[in-house]
Amino acid sequence: MVSQANQPYVLCEDVFKIYKVADLEVVALRGLDLHVDKGEVVAIVGASGSGKSTLLSVLAGYDAPSAGQVVIGGKDLLRASTREMEEYRRNEVGFIWQQTSRNLFPYLTALENVALPMMLTDAGDKQRRAAELLELVGLTHRAHHTHDKLSGGEQQRVAIAVALANRPPLLLADEPTGELDDATASEILDLFGTINKDMDTTILIVTHDPQIAYKVGRVVMIRDGKMATEIRRKITYQRITSEAETDAQLEEFTLVDGSGRVQIPRDLLDRLNIRDRARVNIANGSIVLTPDEKTP
Ligand SMILES: Nc1ncnc2c1ncn2[C@@H]1O[C@H](COP(=O)(O)OP(=O)(O)OP(=O)(O)O)[C@@H](O)[C@H]1O
Ligand SMILES: [Mg+2]
Repeated sequence: MVSQANQPYVLCEDVFKIYKVADLEVVALRGLDLHVDKGEVVAIVGASGSGKSTLLSVLAGYDAPSAGQVVIGGKDLLRASTREMEEYRRNEVGFIWQQTSRNLFPYLTALENVALPMMLTDAGDKQRRAAELLELVGLTHRAHHTHDKLSGGEQQRVAIAVALANRPPLLLADEPTGELDDATASEILDLFGTINKDMDTTILIVTHDPQIAYKVGRVVMIRDGKMATEIRRKITYQRITSEAETDAQLEEFTLVDGSGRVQIPRDLLDRLNIRDRARVNIANGSIVLTPDEKTP
């Protein structure tokens, strides 16, 4: 345990993940920083291949980072033993995969799927708890249906109930609405809102929803394996809802990492013809970046 007062619930610092494929190395995360407070809802957006799923699988304890620090709820994932990691995956984190079919065992009913993660724990009345979770996601009437007899939205609802089975304080969802129509996607977002409010669950959700900034308290944008910018509500609060508050006041920030690095969008640099170097000065309380006049 790392015991530091005021430490964020999710703390990633300078995280690298390098995949080796034959002789090639793919750097999926390159010095990523992320802090999330307990009970916060954070949306993660970014282009395909930017490292979103890699980040979630590191946070879920499915994949070990190559370097950096990942501390969740005081547990240092890089120093945890195999047994501690098993326990972490079972009790501390719920995961919802993008592919609906990956979340459920096809030959089990909805109720059996939800009860399954509790088998290895000492949860009291597992059947009753599974039934309560199905009720929470509004699927009591489908309890005895197997996966092939549920709609896509119903399957994702069961997947959420499965992810919540052991009351994890952290819920990770990788494009949970990616395969759903707009109306069903809205219902799922509202369900996340209920879970966040009622169970004080910290939620990280990867999404392509262009309206997401109006539906959650904070959106972070990942670019090339590193957090680049962040959009926050002016008055931040923990929430996720399908109802977009388009008049909400949002602020966009460029993120500065622990080494003082920032990512400046290429189009802004191009407009000033800044290539590989620039002058940096302070003027009137601002940091000013000026092109090198020798650049042709
Ligand atoms: N198991 C793996 N082995 C090798 N390379 C991988 C592996 N998983 C991911 N990558 C590579 O790492 C990079 C980040 O992949 P990741 O799946 O995290 O992206 P993503 O942001 O989730 O993209 P998408 O929006 O398409 O799901 C990509 O270049 C990908 O090809
Ligand atoms: Mg992905």
